[in-house]
Amino acid sequence: MENIKWEELGFGYIRTDYNIRSTWKDGKWSEPRLCTDENVTIHMASTALHYGQTAFEGAKAFMGADGKVRLFRIEENARRMQSSAEYLMMAVPPIELFVKMTEEVVRANARFIPPYGSGASLYIRPFLFGSGANVGVKPAEQYEFIIFVTPVGPYFKAGFQPIQAIIDRDHDRAAPLGTGHIKAGGNYGASLLSGDICHRKGYQSAIYLDAAHKQYIDEAGAANFFGIKNNTYVTPKSHSVLPSITNMSLRDLAADLGLNVEERLVDYRELAEFEEAGACGTAAVISPIGEVYDPQDDRHYIFGDGKSAGPVSTKLYNLLRGIQLGDEPDTHGWVTFVEL
Ligand code: PLP
Ligand code: COI
Repeated sequence: MENIKWEELGFGYIRTDYNIRSTWKDGKWSEPRLCTDENVTIHMASTALHYGQTAFEGAKAFMGADGKVRLFRIEENARRMQSSAEYLMMAVPPIELFVKMTEEVVRANARFIPPYGSGASLYIRPFLFGSGANVGVKPAEQYEFIIFVTPVGPYFKAGFQPIQAIIDRDHDRAAPLGTGHIKAGGNYGASLLSGDICHRKGYQSAIYLDAAHKQYIDEAGAANFFGIKNNTYVTPKSHSVLPSITNMSLRDLAADLGLNVEERLVDYRELAEFEEAGACGTAAVISPIGEVYDPQDDRHYIFGDGKSAGPVSTKLYNLLRGIQLGDEPDTHGWVTFVEL
């Protein structure tokens, strides 16, 4: 196993042994090839560079106490990559290819899978882009589908400690990230400014409101939003929100725990009614939100004591993490094992 201080890992890039690549050319995907080179050489007129014809995914591999390696709902990532590809008129990687390449690249980098109990995991980053040259605005004729992996710790420094978020109507013109329900690279580029402003003000995440009315909550930065009140799990319904696989799973787990589940418009003023709030996603897992500041109304929405995770978020976190690590039974059939 690699000599890494797993417990101290943040969410960054660490070089691993291999990435895996397949090229779409002349109407077919090439046999996947493991590659040690971290660089890609593409044509300067590629559609990815000029027109943002690029999309990515995010998943994780977990080492269990039983020494088994688990992927969580990986076929859902494959499906979402397919919808991103279709939306951006890219070649669509078959689900089997996506899963097979994921398993192969995880296996090839087994020594970088963080040990059970470290709190870290192996982040999987599949991405797809138009590598063919075009000067006119039209889809490329060649595509690269690449997956790299890198060991990561918590996305937010605090780990499972409440973060502070801010509603910044002036700078979220780029948001929400999930516009069109796809994980398009360009959406994230356009969110960098609002993210930077929010960090400089001392907040860890932006809360994006719907673009048309600036009234309804869309997302919590690079994660979905949920609130808990009256034994109910509430999460925004919006075509601009990325359909989070974590959120989809939490809705099922919340129902398993006997909570009501509501997917609907969430007026930002409803923040005053939530007993708990959280950001959820592959990278974020569940990151409890302790406080949301709204500069327009100069109002602080505080959840619980603002400093510790609430009881429902904690239960959901333990259940989700437990399934991913193999500590809880996989009652929904969400786990795929990677044979090492
Ligand atoms: N929303 C955005 C904008 C994201 O980038 C992510 C991360 O992938 C999520 C939500 C969470 O989605 P998932 O749970 O599928 O990782
Ligand atoms: C993820 O959770 O996988 C994401 O894509 C969020 C962020 C790192 C972009």
